[in-house]
Amino acid sequence: MNFQSLVTILVLLGVFVDAQNDQSGFISIDCGIAKGSTYTDQVTGINYISDAEFRDTGEIHSIMPAYNSLDIYKHATTLTSFPQNTRNCYTLKPTQGKGNRYLIRTSFMYGNYDLKGQLPEFDVYLGPDYWDTMKFNSSSQPKTMEIIHVSSTDYIHLCLVNIGRGTPFISAIELRLVAGDMYKETDFGSLYLYARANFGTTLGTVRYNDDKYDRVWSPINLFDSTFLYTREQVSVGLSNVFDPPSEVMSSAATPRNPNDPFKIEWDPFNTNDKFFIYMHFAEVELLKRNQTREFNIYLNGNLSYGPFSPIYLNTASIYSTAPETIAPRYTLTINKTKNSTLPPIINALELYVLKQLTQRQTDHHDVVAIGSIKSYYRITRNWQGDPCAPQEFVWDGVRCSYNDTEMSRITFLNLSTSGIKGKIDHGFSYLTMIETLDLSNNNLTGTVPDFLSGMKFLKVLNLRGNNFIGPIPEELLAKSNNGSLSISFDGQSTDEEASSCVMNRCKNKKDKKFIVPVIATVASLFVILAAITTIWIINKQKAHGSIRQSNLHTNKSKTSSDGLEIKRQKFTYSEVQSITDNFKVVIGKGGFGEVYHGYIGDVQVAVKMLSASFQQGDKEFQAEANLLMSVHHKNLTTLVGYCNEGNHKGIIYDYIANGNLENHIFDTSLSVLNWEKRLRIACDVACGLEYLHHGCTPPIVHRDVKCTNILLNEKFHAKLADFGLSRAFPTEGATHISTLVAGTPGYLDPEYQSSYRLTEKSDVYSFGVVLLVIITGRPAIARYDNDNKHISRWVNLKLSDGNVKSLVDPRLQGEFDINSAGKAVELAMTCVDDMPNRRPTMKEVVMGLSDCLVTLQDAKTEILTGIVSLTLENAT
Ligand SMILES: *[C@@H]1O[C@H](CO)[C@@H](O)[C@H](O)[C@H]1NC(C)=O
Ligand SMILES: *[C@@H]1O[C@H](CO)[C@@H](O)[C@H](O)[C@H]1NC(C)=O
Ligand SMILES: *[C@@H]1O[C@H](CO)[C@@H](O)[C@H](O)[C@H]1NC(C)=O
Ligand SMILES: *[C@@H]1O[C@H](CO)[C@@H](O)[C@H](O)[C@H]1NC(C)=O
Ligand SMILES: *[C@@H]1O[C@H](CO)[C@@H](O)[C@H](O)[C@H]1NC(C)=O
Ligand SMILES: *[C@@H]1O[C@H](CO)[C@@H](O)[C@H](O)[C@H]1NC(C)=O
Ligand SMILES: *[C@@H]1O[C@H](CO)[C@@H](O)[C@H](O)[C@H]1NC(C)=O
Ligand SMILES: *[C@@H]1O[C@H](CO)[C@@H](O)[C@H](O)[C@H]1NC(C)=O
Ligand SMILES: *[C@@H]1O[C@H](CO)[C@@H](O)[C@H](O)[C@H]1NC(C)=O
Repeated sequence: MNFQSLVTILVLLGVFVDAQNDQSGFISIDCGIAKGSTYTDQVTGINYISDAEFRDTGEIHSIMPAYNSLDIYKHATTLTSFPQNTRNCYTLKPTQGKGNRYLIRTSFMYGNYDLKGQLPEFDVYLGPDYWDTMKFNSSSQPKTMEIIHVSSTDYIHLCLVNIGRGTPFISAIELRLVAGDMYKETDFGSLYLYARANFGTTLGTVRYNDDKYDRVWSPINLFDSTFLYTREQVSVGLSNVFDPPSEVMSSAATPRNPNDPFKIEWDPFNTNDKFFIYMHFAEVELLKRNQTREFNIYLNGNLSYGPFSPIYLNTASIYSTAPETIAPRYTLTINKTKNSTLPPIINALELYVLKQLTQRQTDHHDVVAIGSIKSYYRITRNWQGDPCAPQEFVWDGVRCSYNDTEMSRITFLNLSTSGIKGKIDHGFSYLTMIETLDLSNNNLTGTVPDFLSGMKFLKVLNLRGNNFIGPIPEELLAKSNNGSLSISFDGQSTDEEASSCVMNRCKNKKDKKFIVPVIATVASLFVILAAITTIWIINKQKAHGSIRQSNLHTNKSKTSSDGLEIKRQKFTYSEVQSITDNFKVVIGKGGFGEVYHGYIGDVQVAVKMLSASFQQGDKEFQAEANLLMSVHHKNLTTLVGYCNEGNHKGIIYDYIANGNLENHIFDTSLSVLNWEKRLRIACDVACGLEYLHHGCTPPIVHRDVKCTNILLNEKFHAKLADFGLSRAFPTEGATHISTLVAGTPGYLDPEYQSSYRLTEKSDVYSFGVVLLVIITGRPAIARYDNDNKHISRWVNLKLSDGNVKSLVDPRLQGEFDINSAGKAVELAMTCVDDMPNRRPTMKEVVMGLSDCLVTLQDAKTEILTGIVSLTLENAT
């Protein structure tokens, strides 16, 4: 095997910087000192910190005073032992992060700390890999283990494993960042230190801050050798990356008999061990003209490098470029050449055993995600070290997929009955490969978040036995309805949930059951309705989907590069300023403040800024904003985010392109909404309301249903806006604005005047008014007979004439189906009944409107049959 030499050509004088004190690449942990305490070692000047924050478990101890002597470092006098658990780990997070080469040194000093006088034996793991078994044969001698290791992750786990031969313990952990070019042979694997020798020295150990990487150079004097040294500084030229300190290089060993070769022998730990050898040479004598020192280097009799002459006061390193494997014994001989008048020398030698750390760690993102879950819920079970590896120490409640070529992934997490509380943490959504998530029987609260539906591989989700509020997100239910996800939610199977929690009449397949009795007499038409509904839903979902995707995209672009930051829903005021281009375009003015147009990325949004008079506590605002953000329905505007910065409070919605219903009904410059569109819009709004009333726990009362709050998209599908706002911004006590908040004149439940309470039935009343406006094209309150009359009184007057036809908006010019119009008017009038308990529920309203649509389709069956059969084919 050939060695390579790094001979320094460039000698720079004056490069010796005075004892630098840069410990930025160091983590120096003294195990067993009090939590939070720190000190600077008198001998080395190294700053040590307590180990408490790097571990979850352990007990701190000191060695017996009898073992405390001046030759041991202070950090060896205390230790942390781990009587609980089989495996206990430290987690180091070097600031330089992954991909860097670190020297990691662990120290162990028993010192009869437990008064048992029994030396333990235990395993040490680096990350998921077995490193070595710690064995002692002396209570008084510290032992160290050192490895040079390239970390593939931002954190490094160091674990002690109890193998049944005594309690594991540790005295110190030192981590040092080594320079980029040093020990590049880690490309072959990690380098486990066998020996690091400083030859010919009369001094003690050399380390920091003579060695800025804090390598520990031990003085070695071989039996048949003598030594040479210089008082001059030995420099390391720019090309020598190994940078051994001058204190080490200024002395060298040479054979006692000048004609002998210099010889070192060593035995590997195990016969198959592969070695990396680093030799450092510098001439320390000023040679005369007629003197030469020249030698060859042999490894077990094979020439490895030479002839070579060391350079005066300048370090040359000769080292293995590939692992050396020679069993059972290694012999390094350095023979002078025939030409050489002087014997060979060697200043320093490092021997490393190649350690293949082959275990796949868990995917970085999974580790960070589960780490955040662990800290969010303060999980107390023994979750230490790598979650998945090694396989025998996989975390309790975790299962992983293992693969020879890929990182392990977390596929299963069971946190059932773990006493965790709070909301469902966003961290779960970053466990992107998870298939089973069991959160049952905990004290989880808040809403079931929408992000769960974005978890691609999730097949089993158990949420039972918690205290969630609000509905299960629609998309999750969609996944459960088509069988790609099985959700368990308090006491119900998936199917029951679908019916009890989200009654999405316009879309849910449960519609069929519900509508069948209503239209049983027209069974064939039912199929047609279902098919029409299908066309309609597919379109909607597409539109919905694309908006949500671009949202996600926008969110992504706002997160940090590794995508792990919590999805952005909270915006700063300055972000809102830039979103709205400094509030440039006003698109509306509502009871709470002005509404501005804006962009997040390339997605259009509407930003509603609250006027100062509607301000309230930050916490309440935030809680309500969070609640509203969890409400998703295709007939409700989607809350994208919010801003809550002092007096700047605002809500950001998806922008709906086509304006509000009021404009479309009253603005004569816009084309007339035909009858079918009107019925469909009414049905959309009813569905949205029904969802708020019956799909959300607790039910959300809109409180301000009116035509200006009904937004139309480019396909004239309706979305209800401003729902829940009055909840988010309660105005109790602020009586001067109560009329604004608690509904708009004409739409406001008259019962409110007596009870001052707005219930679901108040929304039904307001919806009835909306429906009347849609049918008649008249405002909620208009002059009639020289009097301002409510639309319901006007309709009553007309109905008493028995003339439905004259009720319908004249702009339709008679283009409508009279039967469906009759049913719609009848339904609207029951909604605006003065007695709340005589009004229908929104479920009944949705049914009634479906009936109207069927009636309408009845009249159009022939035209539609063709389209329907086509759609049915496509759908299957
Ligand atoms: C400790 O054990 C090693 C081998 O296991 C042996 O070489 C060494 O001499 C022992 N040291 C003492 C102090 O007993
Ligand atoms: C080298 O030269 C010195 C005088 O400068 C002399 O004393 C010495 O013997 C010579 N050595 C050899 C090996 O020629
Ligand atoms: C090195 O020198 C010694 C003594 O002169 C000799 O026995 C040995 O064979 C030499 N080794 C090699 C590899 O030439
Ligand atoms: C090195 O020496 C061994 C025997 O010690 C021999 O088998 C091998 O071929 C030699 N390698 C080279 C490259 O000379
Ligand atoms: C021996 O050294 C001299 C001068 O240093 C050199 O000219 C000569 O080539 C060398 N011979 C060998 C065999 O290396
Ligand atoms: C490992 O993962 C790769 C890529 O995902 C896949 O192609 C391969 O089949 C997997 N191997 C095993 C043993 O699962
Ligand atoms: C989760 O663990 C509990 C016991 O703690 C067990 O009853 C339940 O079946 C587990 N869930 C899954 C999905 O395995
Ligand atoms: C968890 O909830 C149950 C019932 O809901 C309650 O009795 C218990 O005290 C709660 N535990 C904690 C730690 O909050
Ligand atoms: C089930 O529905 C979800 C959400 O609508 C969709 O992403 C998924 O592809 C569907 N899966 C199947 C098997 O249809």
